[in-house]
Amino acid sequence: MRINCRVCDGTVEAALDLGKQPLANGFLGPDEIAAERFTRLAVGMCDRCTTVQLIEEVKQELRYHDSYRYQASGSRGHRSHFEQDARRFIATELAGPDPFIVEIGCNDGVMLETIARAGIRHLGIEPSANVANAALAKGIRVHTRFFDEAAGHDIRATDGPADVIFGANTICHIAHIGSLFRGVDALLADDGVFVFEEPYLGTVIDRTAFDQIYDEHIFYFTVRSVQAIAAHFGFELVDAEHIAMHGGEIRYTIARPGRRRPAPAVAELLTAEKARGLADPETLRRFTATVERVRADLLSLLRRLRAEGRLVVGYGAPAKCTTVTNYCGIGPDLLPFVIDSTPEKQGLLVPGSHIPVVPPETFTEKRPDFAVLFAWNHAEEIMAKEKWFTEAGGKWIVYIPQVHVAS
Ligand code: SAH
Ligand code: TYD
Ligand code: ZN
Repeated sequence: MRINCRVCDGTVEAALDLGKQPLANGFLGPDEIAAERFTRLAVGMCDRCTTVQLIEEVKQELRYHDSYRYQASGSRGHRSHFEQDARRFIATELAGPDPFIVEIGCNDGVMLETIARAGIRHLGIEPSANVANAALAKGIRVHTRFFDEAAGHDIRATDGPADVIFGANTICHIAHIGSLFRGVDALLADDGVFVFEEPYLGTVIDRTAFDQIYDEHIFYFTVRSVQAIAAHFGFELVDAEHIAMHGGEIRYTIARPGRRRPAPAVAELLTAEKARGLADPETLRRFTATVERVRADLLSLLRRLRAEGRLVVGYGAPAKCTTVTNYCGIGPDLLPFVIDSTPEKQGLLVPGSHIPVVPPETFTEKRPDFAVLFAWNHAEEIMAKEKWFTEAGGKWIVYIPQVHVAS
């Protein structure tokens, strides 16, 4: 299976294949099972610009709509991270007269609420109407639409140039990357910056975080590929820094060529990526073997525990849980339910694997013996909240970077 690269038209050959998968955030009721749709989840690396990307994609209107399940404000960790981001922008890029910031994919307004409270001119672009409405209700200015070239021109015409264009866990979702960059080109002030924070291929590989691969994540960026993407569309990568979100991401800063002096971190991270062969297609193929090992180990552990009559459940129903349960073939026979604090997911089934999602109270009521931590990126917050579980002899099963029972 091969496609043309969405960035540069080079060739992308499938290297890692996680099988047929449903929409990762397509939590559904039992009556919707018959209509559920599956797409092959495989990624490959462009032979020219090295961008790792999905081979097949689901239309954006099927992924983002008026009942999009992901609520960005759902964890304390995320709220404080995005508040810090906002404060940093306020103190730096937005410190001049009448600054203007646009966020692509603002979701429920987790970042923009701090900006709005500071009285700074802003606009969120968010196609999923339910979360866009949640942001509106917080007093944030939002347009319910997809960001693309036309949106960039429209905003420029009504609001003028943006000092900052920001995106978090959104730019990798946008398959029309050429149109996106033309929109940024239309909208960004001459001295403005386009900043985005996205899952990092280096982390996916280091931590065996193959569950970051799902239909919404079209791209798996590296510093090398983002530098190539920026240059391809007439921009320059001027900064890159590791951040702790979602187990380890990178925040990229892009500017118009020659406007900003590139930070030393760019060259340093490029050197580090080269040393570990991150742009080598072999690296992805080797990763396949590691992922298969996790599947085998997790399945054999769950089967053994079931044979021993232990109650094993899942904790957290992030999009990641869809990838893991479907790739491994884990259904309600091995995990009778998963706990999730998101009211919109409770009472529904995990896409594809059809494991019921239940509220945290069920965890306390049923007192399971083991819990598979699907929301592993929130381990600290969850383990602290559910301290009683281990105190009562319960054990956490973690499959990142390999399957183990946490002590
Ligand atoms: N920024 C938040 C939300 C990330 S989820 C966070 O980091 O937690 C990704 C969001 O991007 C979703 O709310 C989705 O509706 C939105 N999105 C998807 N495609 C988009 C596009 N083309 N333009 C703007 N937003 C988009
Ligand atoms: P998240 O890690 O944000 O990611 P994604 O969907 O992008 O993979 O999702 C975390 C999920 O875990 C979310 O559905 C909320 C849930 N959760 C809990 O149930 N309890 C908690 O204490 C926390 C922090 C999260
Ligand atoms: Zn390419």
